[in-house]
Amino acid sequence: MNAPTLDVYLKPNEMAEALRADVRTGLVAKPKCLPPKWFYDARGSELFEQITTLPEYYPTRTEHQLLERYSSEIAELTQTEILVELGSGSSEKTKRLLSAGVEHGTLHTYVPQDVSISALEGATEHIAEVFPGLTVHGVVSDFTESLHHLPGDGRRTVVFLGGTLGNMVADERSEFLSGIADVLSTGEHLVLGVGLVTDADVLVRAYDDSAGVTAAFNKNVLRVLNDSLGADFPIDEFRHVALWDAENAWIEMRLEATRDLDVQIADLDMSVSFAAGEQLRTEISAKFTIDGIRAELANAGFEMQRSWTDLDERFALISAVLS
Ligand code: SAH
Ligand code: TRP
Repeated sequence: MNAPTLDVYLKPNEMAEALRADVRTGLVAKPKCLPPKWFYDARGSELFEQITTLPEYYPTRTEHQLLERYSSEIAELTQTEILVELGSGSSEKTKRLLSAGVEHGTLHTYVPQDVSISALEGATEHIAEVFPGLTVHGVVSDFTESLHHLPGDGRRTVVFLGGTLGNMVADERSEFLSGIADVLSTGEHLVLGVGLVTDADVLVRAYDDSAGVTAAFNKNVLRVLNDSLGADFPIDEFRHVALWDAENAWIEMRLEATRDLDVQIADLDMSVSFAAGEQLRTEISAKFTIDGIRAELANAGFEMQRSWTDLDERFALISAVLS
């Protein structure tokens, strides 16, 4: 097997500086908020993997089944030589696409990209072992920044799974999709996995499970601040909240202070107070309709070629081509 390589474009000091900047602005904003990428330190990535196996968290299971069913069709449609995956995490589901691409005879390179170095180290080792014929080239970077360091020596498909597109608001999605269009050439593909608007109860349970794993994942962001910025968030004094916002068609995750709190963030010389009941917004997970996503893709220059959904129409795989 070829040993996998890992390029780190986000140096630890840049990460630390970006975290400081996000905390300085996010915790004085009204309402307080933090960007989702800070969930994913080693512990957060591990907790996310646990979320994917929860009975209530249907997206991973559903997307996996869709990939199982339709990966060969996707390989045929896209003729992928290089599969670039953004926010790849454990790459577990991607194995379906990789084996279909290898069987189809076109795929030679896999480029998983993620902000979580621990997730990528594990995933690149594992994929290189399972697919000894593939070149595996991991990239640690922030997909909301530049995508220009992605390789270009073959027909590429960018894949973005797990409903992660929904973790951005509409303006961010538009910028993100246009950014992908900028680095691709006409005829190259984008394959998306997105959550669809469905029953509110089903949605809320997926983000507020009975075992409390999602609550632990959400609160982990406070531990990241305690560990990396010398903050003293009393983690147990916060409550996990997941709400369905029907107007915006998104699930919103928040952390609610259970009493008045004064938090010190030593490394920033900053103190932040929370009133009892005050909420910090940590994540949205927008859900889509097929027509809605078709329009967003078209705005960025992509033509939706095909979409596949499960029988309950809770999740969709979409293949789009840059026109
Ligand atoms: N694709 C996997 C993981 C989804 S969870 C799946 O479908 O199961 C979202 C992933 O995106 C995590 O691995 C997280 O580390 C990564 N991520 C979140 N924000 C990111 C950013 N700004 N840049 C790069 N990766 C990011
Ligand atoms: N991309 C995942 C999603 O939107 C991320 C996620 C799952 C998540 N569960 C979460 C983010 C709980 C924050 C809290 O489905």
